[in-house]
Amino acid sequence: MVFARKGLDAGTEVLLDAVPRPPVRGNLLDLGCGTGAIALALATRSPEATVHAVDVNPRAVELCRLNAQRNGLSNVSCSLDTELDPDLTFDVIWSNPPIRIGKEELHRLLATWLSRLSKGATAWLVVNRNLGADSLSVWLSERGCNVDRATSKRGFRVLGVTPTPEADLWRP
Ligand SMILES: C[S@@+](CC[C@H](N)C(=O)[O-])C[C@H]1O[C@@H](n2cnc3c(N)ncnc32)[C@H](O)[C@@H]1O
Repeated sequence: MVFARKGLDAGTEVLLDAVPRPPVRGNLLDLGCGTGAIALALATRSPEATVHAVDVNPRAVELCRLNAQRNGLSNVSCSLDTELDPDLTFDVIWSNPPIRIGKEELHRLLATWLSRLSKGATAWLVVNRNLGADSLSVWLSERGCNVDRATSKRGFRVLGVTPTPEADLWRP
């Protein structure tokens, strides 16, 4: 089952309305790409950048690739999370993260990918208020990230998360 096969997810819509323009160039990441709505928006808004779209679900990766092709977006690179070059760092991350995998898994996932942001770069995350947006925000702040609440709309919060040089995302 691939998330949002039938249309744009409400949280994703809130995210895409709230985020600032992505960097013009560089490596941009859609973490948990599903069918690719966020990756396609990044690629359209920053045609000179390379957009990396990753997911654990091979079918999602396939659909994301197809959707990028259908939209003529040659700057999207879709892959399984495990296939991406581990040395690559990102100039921005946009994500509607998989909240339902549970708190510990989510923390591990975010720690892994937020640690790969370039210096001073930001991850924009949309999280349902009823599914722990505020506690996630507290966790990220406690681990040394600056957390900016860009918007709160239709039951979702959009968080801009910028790890400081002292950030310690891996601490249990
Ligand atoms: C809430 S959906 C968002 C999908 C899509 N970005 C959108 O906005 O419609 C979260 C996605 O994260 C993926 N996911 C779950 N665990 C993951 C992991 N460990 N690494 C990468 N993606 C994961 C799911 O397969 C799902 O496609």
